[in-house]
Amino acid sequence: MSNKILKVGVFTSGGDAPGMNAAIRAVARSCAYYKLECVGIMRGYEGMIEGDIAPLDARAVGNILQRGGTVLKSARSKEFRTPEGRKKAYDHLQKHNIDALVAIGGDGTFTGLHKFYEEYKVPSILIPGTIDNDLTGTDYTIGYDTATNTAVEAIDKIRDTAMSHNRLFFIEVMGRHSGYIAIHAGIAGGAASVVIPEETMSFEDLYKILGEGEDTSKKSNLVVVAEGSKIGDAHALARKVAERSSYFDIKVTVLGHLQRGGSPTYFDRVLASRMGVAAIEGLLKGENGVMVGVKDNNMVYSSFETVIGKHHEIDAESMRIAKILSI
Ligand code: F6P
Repeated sequence: MSNKILKVGVFTSGGDAPGMNAAIRAVARSCAYYKLECVGIMRGYEGMIEGDIAPLDARAVGNILQRGGTVLKSARSKEFRTPEGRKKAYDHLQKHNIDALVAIGGDGTFTGLHKFYEEYKVPSILIPGTIDNDLTGTDYTIGYDTATNTAVEAIDKIRDTAMSHNRLFFIEVMGRHSGYIAIHAGIAGGAASVVIPEETMSFEDLYKILGEGEDTSKKSNLVVVAEGSKIGDAHALARKVAERSSYFDIKVTVLGHLQRGGSPTYFDRVLASRMGVAAIEGLLKGENGVMVGVKDNNMVYSSFETVIGKHHEIDAESMRIAKILSI
C-alpha cells in the first residue's frame, strides 16, 4: 500500500440504516472534490473477499440521497471473521490499488474493520451507521433518527386503536443490545412504560406500573419493549400479564424491520453528509484507525481502541423523564 491516498474504497456492512446512501454520496462526492478516485465495494466484507468492486464517481451517486437502504448492499460476512477471508479481501484491495477504506456500519462492521486494520494497516475510517445508536464516540449514528421517527409514527397509530378498545399493547421495537429507539420512541409516543436491555426493571415492577394504571382508571396502556429486553420480549411479557390477570385486553405489535427502511429524515441526511465529508477530509489529514462522530454538534475522530466494544449509555435524564411522565 502506498502512503499517499489516491483511491478510496467505500462499503456498507451489517444492518442497513436509512441515511447510508446519503453517506455513500458524501464520500464519493468528497473524493471527487479532492481529486481522489472512489470505488464502491458491494455487500460489505463479502464483496471485498470476492473482489466485487466498481467505480463510484460523483454522478454515480446522484438521486440516492433520499433513498432508504443502501445502493452498495450489505451483508454480515462469516468468511471475513477468518484469517483466510481477510487475506482474500486484502489481496483484492491490492489488486484494485485501493489505498484507504471508509466503512459505513455498526458494531459488527467496526469489529471487522478493527481486526483488519490491526493485521494489514490499511488506512481506515468508520462512519457509524446503525439504527441502534449504540456506539460511543458519537452522540448519534446514521439511521437512528429515522428509525425512531418510524417507531413513533407506528405508536401513534396503535394508540388510536388502543384507546378505542381500552386495550393494553406491547409494542416491540428494534435494539438487540440497545434501548435507544425504545426509550425515545417511548417518551415521544407517551408509553406507560419502556422496557430496555440497559435497565434492571423486573416483571413485578412492570406489572405494578400497569396495575397502577388500573387503580387510577387508566383504561389503555402502551408498553414499548426493546427487542433485547432482559425480562422477555413483547410476546412473552404479554403472556405473563395475561396469566396473572384477566383485567387486561392485550395485543402485541412487533415493528421489526419496518424501522430499518424508508426515506431518511433531514437529520440523518445532514448527519450522513457531514460524516461522509469528515471521513475523506480526515483521511487526507492523516486520520486513520478512527471513527467519525458528532459530539455536541462538532465533528470528532476517536481512535478504534477508545470506542470499540463500548456501549453507548442511555442518559439518565431520558430514563427519569420516561418514568415521571408515565404516571
Ligand atoms: O443492528 C441493527 C439491527 O436492526 C438491530 O436493532 C436488530 O437487533 C438487528 O439489526 C436485526 O438484524 P437482522 O436484520 O440481521 O435480523
